[in-house]
Amino acid sequence: MADQKTIYRCQQCGYVSPKWLGRCPECRSWESLVEEIAFRKTGKDIVGGSSQNCPVALIDIPSETEARILSGIGEWDRVLGGGLIPGSLVLVAGDPGIGKSTLLLQVLARLSEEKQVLYVSGEESPQQLKVRAMRLGVESPSLYVYSETLLEAVLDAVGKRTPDILVIDSIQTVHTRALDVAPGSVSQVRECAARLMRAAKESRVSIFVVGHVTKEGSIAGPRALEHLVDTVLYLEGDRTHTFRLLRAVKNRYGSTNEVGVFEMKEVGLEEVPNPSKLLLAERPTGVSGSVVACSVEGTRPLLVELQALVSATGWLQPRRTSMGVDSNRLSLLLAVLEKKLGLNFTQQDVFVNVAGGVRLLEPASDLAMTTALMSTYLDRPLPSELVVWGEVGLAGEVRGVGHSALRALEAQKLGFSKCLVPKSNAERLSQELEIECMGVKSLQDVLKLLF
Ligand SMILES: Nc1ncnc2c1ncn2[C@@H]1O[C@H](COP(=O)(O)OP(=O)(O)O)[C@@H](O)[C@H]1O
Ligand SMILES: [Mg+2]
Repeated sequence: MADQKTIYRCQQCGYVSPKWLGRCPECRSWESLVEEIAFRKTGKDIVGGSSQNCPVALIDIPSETEARILSGIGEWDRVLGGGLIPGSLVLVAGDPGIGKSTLLLQVLARLSEEKQVLYVSGEESPQQLKVRAMRLGVESPSLYVYSETLLEAVLDAVGKRTPDILVIDSIQTVHTRALDVAPGSVSQVRECAARLMRAAKESRVSIFVVGHVTKEGSIAGPRALEHLVDTVLYLEGDRTHTFRLLRAVKNRYGSTNEVGVFEMKEVGLEEVPNPSKLLLAERPTGVSGSVVACSVEGTRPLLVELQALVSATGWLQPRRTSMGVDSNRLSLLLAVLEKKLGLNFTQQDVFVNVAGGVRLLEPASDLAMTTALMSTYLDRPLPSELVVWGEVGLAGEVRGVGHSALRALEAQKLGFSKCLVPKSNAERLSQELEIECMGVKSLQDVLKLLF
């Protein structure tokens, strides 16, 4: 303890101060100083060279990697890039109450069939965990729970029990004695995560860390940890819907932007092997403003219903409301429709919604959004067997997007017979597909073809 002290470092420019300041004197940004522990360098450290570590030739490193740990829950394993790597640190982030603890408990139950698992909860008592486990039908002899918030105690327990997998639920509740600040503050969260990372690499225990996404403030969110951990998974979804998407946004051991789809049920989160079918189950037909869009998340195509509604406004400033799509993208596309097709939205409120609480953030959903807007504006329904994808540019041109074959196959698999796609994509799609591809180059083409 004697050779460590507390410093305050500006998160913007790296300025170091011995005491907290409201404003960084160097870069003049407000409230950017964060407490950190600094270890005083002893003479030996400075001279250096004591480390056993030295450079090695890449070809001398053994190529066999440790086997990935599979849970048997397909969606989960896929999002992790094909299973969990021993000794990795995975951050599972999401809004409070979205189902992080539920999902982890289910995954742990599966993993504990072959591995030793320790679940540390700083939020719930063992009794509460038992109630949840009973609801989820989890009963496993090698799953240990530990209600503790002191990091040193947790690491002690890890040293004694040597579990293969450790879960910290949540990082915002644990704290280390080394820092004299409240649990949940940026410095506590980062220091604890850094120590866990060291433990993971040293003892080859795989660690899951739960992090609540919080509004900006004194409580540190998962953003503060993203650069530190190996993998970041976000569990997201609209709490009023039962769908949950598990998204990998960073992965040192696999592809990012993979998503897994789950449905929240009484007995926990259930995998949804064919989400498109479920998402389209309640789609109305013959209604204007409704269109089926195809978005590709990672390697998985997802068909969802996108709905648009325009109605005469009662306000001086018409409303633009969007759920599940980017509102800036909506404004941009409305401007293109006005300029290029002469559709006039100045006296119209515009609403766009993606059914099922899914978010369509790919530019490939532009064409679906514009088609839905045209359909509701002209009050002409679109054919119900049509799927739409493509990017729309500012000149009203329709641009090609990636994964077209994947999208076409998914649409065909679900019984759609037509797709409206960028011309450049249509030309390259295989002739063997049964689905009829209508290629368009501009929004004028769309208008001519469909309306
Ligand atoms: N008895 C229950 N029946 C069905 N769903 C429940 C029940 N209890 C809790 N849930 C669901 O579980 C969610 C809480 O999940 P939890 O894993 O505790 O979230 P997190 O850990 O992300 O804060 C609730 O929002 C609710 O949807
Ligand atoms: Mg929880």
